[in-house]
Amino acid sequence: MTQDRAAVMPLVNLHQYESAAAERLPRMVFDYYAGGAGDELLLRTSRAAWDGIAIRYRVLRDVSRRSHRIELLGHALDWPVLVAPMAFQQLAHADGELATARAADATGTGFILSTLATRSIESVRAATGGPLWFQLYIYRDRGLTEALVRRAEQAGCTALVLTVDAPMLGRRERDLLNGFHVPAETPIPNVGAAPRDVLAERVETASSLAAFTERHWDASISWADLDWLGSLTRMPILVKGIVRGDDAVRALQHGASGVIVSNHGGRQLDTAIPTARALGDVADAMAGGGALLVDGGIRRGTDVVKALALGAQAVLLGRPVLWGLAVDGAAGAQRVLQLLKEECDLALALAGCRTPAEATRDLLAP
Ligand code: GLV
Repeated sequence: MTQDRAAVMPLVNLHQYESAAAERLPRMVFDYYAGGAGDELLLRTSRAAWDGIAIRYRVLRDVSRRSHRIELLGHALDWPVLVAPMAFQQLAHADGELATARAADATGTGFILSTLATRSIESVRAATGGPLWFQLYIYRDRGLTEALVRRAEQAGCTALVLTVDAPMLGRRERDLLNGFHVPAETPIPNVGAAPRDVLAERVETASSLAAFTERHWDASISWADLDWLGSLTRMPILVKGIVRGDDAVRALQHGASGVIVSNHGGRQLDTAIPTARALGDVADAMAGGGALLVDGGIRRGTDVVKALALGAQAVLLGRPVLWGLAVDGAAGAQRVLQLLKEECDLALALAGCRTPAEATRDLLAP
């Protein structure tokens, strides 16, 4: 029934993909992806913050020829978007991260593989030719952490994304109510066997991910660990989860090549600052001193334009890629990326921009 409906009704924007995915995913899985921390206020304020920015578009700029290619950490991307790291993608579709990585490749989009992926780093690298970055948490077991970094580098990942907004897991009440767990037959090949086991345990009103993180992530991580990480690898490191200019500057001082302004998609600290409100200050503090990316509630091409105008070089797209994956595997994820790409092209053109670099702060109403 739901299959038929998707076949009959074309989905024309990212919001519709979310509704279509909600119809076909098991409740526990949809809620895990869609949910946020606490009262989920940040999910709403994140969207509202992008919506609340007005574009002071330019006119008569001959936008008949446009290019949205960018250079990021030495790689060319067809447009300023990467797929955000998201865990356990096989829960959305049997092809998991192989499908989303292929969709990224087919649309000239960068791809960031989650540590908690359901496909190995090596298999994702082998499946695609596009830029592949690896996302990392620092585990209590520094041996496991170091082994992952080396593995990612050897596999051919070209950047490391260190998530720093999760010394502990946010309280996600949908997951507690659903007894969120990752069935034992779902592979999680990039963490050791022992850490994996706890994720399979279904406990009433508890989240297995919360149990896993409590046991294995390290709440003591500090700036010194960024120095340590830098000593392990030649890959550039991007620090993800920054919402303050002073933290961004510190990240650069500790050797990071850039930062990702992010609040973990509203999944960590509810009522934190929406990224659309944090980005400008971070850009000003960094003053072009490193790569600057942003995520959190991007759903429209106009959101991408606003992010660029606030100073980001690129944005990360998260949940909508999973909605596309859930609806139609790699083809669905590709369609989601293609839709946003077309919106982004149109929004830039209508704002009077021929390139992402022409989206500057003066485009935004004060
Ligand atoms: C994992 O990082 C999550 O946010 O669920």
